[in-house]
Amino acid sequence: MEEAYLNWPKLIDEALADWGSVGVRGEFDNIVISGMGGSGIIGDVVKLLALGRLSTPVEVVKSHVIPSYVSEETLFIGVSYSGNTHETITATLRALEKGARVAVVTSGGVLGRVAAEKGLPLFKTPSGLLPRVSFPHMLTGVLSILDSSGLSIAGRSEVEHARAGLESDKPGIAGEASEIASFAYSGDLLVVATHSPLEALAVRAKSEFNENSKIIVKVDVAPEWMHNDIVGYERPLFTSYRVIAFYDPDDKVGRRLVEFMVEEYKGHGRPVRSIPLKGVNLVGKVLYAALLFGLASVKLAGLRGVDPSATVSIGRYKKFASGVFEYRV
Ligand code: PA5
Repeated sequence: MEEAYLNWPKLIDEALADWGSVGVRGEFDNIVISGMGGSGIIGDVVKLLALGRLSTPVEVVKSHVIPSYVSEETLFIGVSYSGNTHETITATLRALEKGARVAVVTSGGVLGRVAAEKGLPLFKTPSGLLPRVSFPHMLTGVLSILDSSGLSIAGRSEVEHARAGLESDKPGIAGEASEIASFAYSGDLLVVATHSPLEALAVRAKSEFNENSKIIVKVDVAPEWMHNDIVGYERPLFTSYRVIAFYDPDDKVGRRLVEFMVEEYKGHGRPVRSIPLKGVNLVGKVLYAALLFGLASVKLAGLRGVDPSATVSIGRYKKFASGVFEYRV
């Protein structure tokens, strides 16, 4: 599975080959991006990238429930690697009912069929991967759709530069990932700490350690952390934890906030590993973090002797969910 992660620059090339092929015409009041798990994180990351770059609001839906404001003026993007995730199918069908302009990113499945039948713009991601491994392809797909729809957050050249940076950083990332895996390999609860607006990357790291390494992870995000969690660390019931803290070195405030967190954790006698994010631009930093924690989580799975690709309990839930969500396509 490490190979699949290390193949990301090529996966980005494949997505770039389709850049500009899919777009939605119109004027939009808002953008809603729907998806779950390894597909849902795309919405979170796009929202992070859009924060300082786009005046149109971006909402992320990780549920079958969509916001009441979804209308003809909404650009709704349904992202599901398999195309068979009940929450994303339900949300997308509800958006269509409300007249939203819908585009889809998927490798096929039910969502792919809905897109074909209704003539929806479709950015196809290659089949045969795991959703979480397809991250850079699906992300490039959504950025491309937005760019072609007059709502550019990151242009093709930013993605190309980020891809080149990732390629040259790969050996360093692999080395750092091994060290993170060794650090995380303990009986301690793993805490992933960062500063706003990077919470999407901490959630991505958490999910990677959940799914690939099969461990529970807590996410701490400054500055909100300083207004509640911090007190919980004064007298916790569970004192055995260790922290991976990452920050954007170009964000002076974010960096200082994480430094404060690190001093607090250390003051409680807990081990901390601090990581500055690398990357030639913001997309590059996103890819750096996603690859670093993805690889680390696979390496930790190796240390623990568990299969990183298997997600047995998600399968159990999806079987159950087929009797819960009702939709007709
Ligand atoms: O990484 C995974 O395998 C999961 O988090 C899936 O992404 C999640 O269950 C949703 O499935 P899909 O990405 O096919 O919509």
